Amino acid sequence: MAKYLGIGGGRTALDIGCGDGALARYLHEHLGYRTTGIDCAPTAVALAADQHADVEGLRFQLLDFATGDLHELPCSSYALITCRLAYKFIGDKPRFLDRVRHLLTPGGMVWVVAEPADRLEGAAIARGLTRTEVEELTTGRPTVHVEDLDRLICFRLDS
Ligand SMILES: C[S@@+](CC[C@H](N)C(=O)[O-])C[C@H]1O[C@@H](n2cnc3c(N)ncnc32)[C@H](O)[C@@H]1O
Repeated sequence: MAKYLGIGGGRTALDIGCGDGALARYLHEHLGYRTTGIDCAPTAVALAADQHADVEGLRFQLLDFATGDLHELPCSSYALITCRLAYKFIGDKPRFLDRVRHLLTPGGMVWVVAEPADRLEGAAIARGLTRTEVEELTTGRPTVHVEDLDRLICFRLDS
């Protein structure tokens, strides 16, 4: 991950749809980003806060990124915004991407990790990212780096 996302050096990171908080912890503890994980599910936030209570400075917050008030976040801008396996569940993706852009510092990075739909089978296809959704995510971005990790695909969108 350090290879793709660089060392945080105390810069801020936001993990959207943090779930159990494992990625947020990694960014905070190993890469040195001052990280906040947010999730719209109270159970996820409670679990993450409980599991990572030993990590100083790592925050978890209940917030629906698609509809919530972004002023509730602890910072107004982030050097790194991650969204692992959560982008698919966002209804209004253009609005979501606009909100992400607003929160990025100049030179900031967005890291979206998803399962491509064409690598899934049966009912699982529904949770995968379609080609159209990939285009929507990447079109118009100045720089897009794609890392193909077999089952997962990672997009790093630089501002
Ligand atoms: C499949 S889980 C992935 C969790 C974690 N990112 C991981 O990689 O293990 C998707 C998470 O995104 C959260 N989520 C979905 N829509 C969201 C939104 N609009 N705002 C914040 N969290 C959201 C869900 O509650 C869920 O915890």
